[in-house]
Amino acid sequence: MWAREGRDHAPEGTGAYDEREPCKGAATPPGRAIQQETKEKSRPVKPDMKVTVAGIELVNPVIAASGTFGYGIEFEEIVSLERLGAFVTKGISLEPMAGHPAPRIVQTAAGMLNAIGLQNVGVEDYLRRKLPPMKRYPRCKVIVNVFGYTEAEYIGVIERLNAAEGIAAYELNVSCPNVYAGGMAFGADASSLEYLVSRAKAASKRPLIVKLSPNVTSVAHMAAVAADAGADAVSLVNTFRAMAIDVEQRRPRLSNVAGGLSGPAIKPIALRMVYEAARTVRIPILGMGGIVTPEDAVEFLLAGATAVQVGTASYADPRATERLAHGLEAWCRNHQVERVASLTGALEVPHD
Ligand SMILES: Cc1cc2nc3c(=O)[nH]c(=O)nc-3n(C[C@H](O)[C@H](O)[C@H](O)COP(=O)(O)O)c2cc1C
Repeated sequence: MWAREGRDHAPEGTGAYDEREPCKGAATPPGRAIQQETKEKSRPVKPDMKVTVAGIELVNPVIAASGTFGYGIEFEEIVSLERLGAFVTKGISLEPMAGHPAPRIVQTAAGMLNAIGLQNVGVEDYLRRKLPPMKRYPRCKVIVNVFGYTEAEYIGVIERLNAAEGIAAYELNVSCPNVYAGGMAFGADASSLEYLVSRAKAASKRPLIVKLSPNVTSVAHMAAVAADAGADAVSLVNTFRAMAIDVEQRRPRLSNVAGGLSGPAIKPIALRMVYEAARTVRIPILGMGGIVTPEDAVEFLLAGATAVQVGTASYADPRATERLAHGLEAWCRNHQVERVASLTGALEVPHD
């Protein structure tokens, strides 16, 4: 198991992560905005945890990430969904998809490798069976992750979703590392990305978040392309293309040979990418990659994210998202931060 409040744990048997100290960087030194809010206050504050992303108000900045939280409703008996700002569904395509054959998940040192292959129930079944029960949790916003093999398929899914109620926004997945067409084919090429985002934006009656790939030369440039094409926000990062080999069998551990790496192993790289994107675009950023502790989340906010997504941590602890929502509020209270939104971009960079 990875996470408990304030202390991370490696998956059993993977030595490297056992040594990891809880991140302390976020607490020292505080940024200007934090300092303003900490002036000589001794009484505890009840922090305002609300944030606004692409015009959507969230009760707090903690969002369950796509592919790690099913269609949301499966978690209703495990997580208090009302305590989350939002969740993002598994990627939804026009038709149902079976995904890649097993093995599709491999544990790595401080992370996880997956090649699920975008298995999903398809948009019709999603609208009929998965979305309606979410009405029971109106505070938790539903963001639908959309993908297609062609630009027409992306638009088809969006048009079908447009007709439904109870969805706050779409997240366009242009970054799945283990499905080329429909994933990286759009996310790795600036002109394809520009074309797809502008078409999707024109078709969408809801805010459009574009989920960016880290498997590019400059994620900040791709964020700028998405913003110029009309994205209301960008989310980053998706998983890093990676592989693992079983030396006894001399075979790849994943049936798909390569897959996507996620979890604490990617956090420092993801954080750097969020920081660079935040310096490049003015639209809100949803940051993710290996967030396990409240301090991890604070790091992403300081780097420039308005909200954070939590993925792989839910595999180690299915209640990780709710724990983080509580933990982030406690962190703000303990650090006399009155508004969590004041942390966004409040990083102090010497000589900047
Ligand atoms: C098993 C698994 C399935 C995923 N499926 C999707 C998906 O369908 N669409 C998507 O945009 N991202 C998908 N992701 C990527 C995550 O949403 C997230 O971007 C990534 O895992 C990094 O965050 P983390 O380190 O907190 O997991 C998936 C990740 C995992 C581990």
